Amino acid sequence: MATSEQGVQRIGQWQPGRSVMGTCSRMLLFARTFLKFPAMLGSVIPSSRFLVNDVLSQVEWERARVIVEFGPGVGTMTQEVLKRMRPDATLVAIELNCEFVAFLQAQVPDPRLCVVHASAGEVRTVLGRLGLGRADYIISGIPYTNMPEAARREIVEESKRALGPQGALLIYQFTRTVLPYLESSFGSVRQGFQPLNVLPARIFHCTP
Ligand SMILES: C[S@@+](CC[C@H](N)C(=O)[O-])C[C@H]1O[C@@H](n2cnc3c(N)ncnc32)[C@H](O)[C@@H]1O
Repeated sequence: MATSEQGVQRIGQWQPGRSVMGTCSRMLLFARTFLKFPAMLGSVIPSSRFLVNDVLSQVEWERARVIVEFGPGVGTMTQEVLKRMRPDATLVAIELNCEFVAFLQAQVPDPRLCVVHASAGEVRTVLGRLGLGRADYIISGIPYTNMPEAARREIVEESKRALGPQGALLIYQFTRTVLPYLESSFGSVRQGFQPLNVLPARIFHCTP
């Protein structure tokens, strides 16, 4: 899928209190979209706060200026990244599903956030179009297990190329399918586990 200029949006200040849709409606939108695109979503509900906190505890916020999120969905991880990140940092959220893109554009107005309708494999093109250099962090919860092997390999390799020398790729997944691809592309892969998520999730911390 090509990234169009219209797909790149910069939107206003995130104010949870003014969100039109509540948690319940967000869960419903997620579940309804899962029924239409089960392989694309890979989960019927968004990540739990346990998983979100575990993943985000691995970020050094002081040095994170360019953060990329793959597959923000209804913004469960996104809003927690926005709460923690520096005022001068940028979060680029790359989402394949156009309903989620429209949702985030309407519901998560924060000038530090760019929501882009594209595939994760286009990350370097997206960063280039936004005039951003390499990423300090890529945070990814896209379902690598459900995609063709070539796409899995391409996204992992493009992620590594998109990172700066001190950058890190943080992946959370229900399976270890992506692990061999990470180990062949990255110099170091550290593994973690969060049992309280539905389903229990593995976390991979990868550095070049
Ligand atoms: C399991 S959901 C995770 C949603 C959210 N990040 C969370 O943790 O609750 C996976 C998300 O990845 C998106 N996705 C799947 N393949 C993608 C791809 N190649 N590029 C970008 N987004 C993708 C789906 O549309 C969905 O929003």
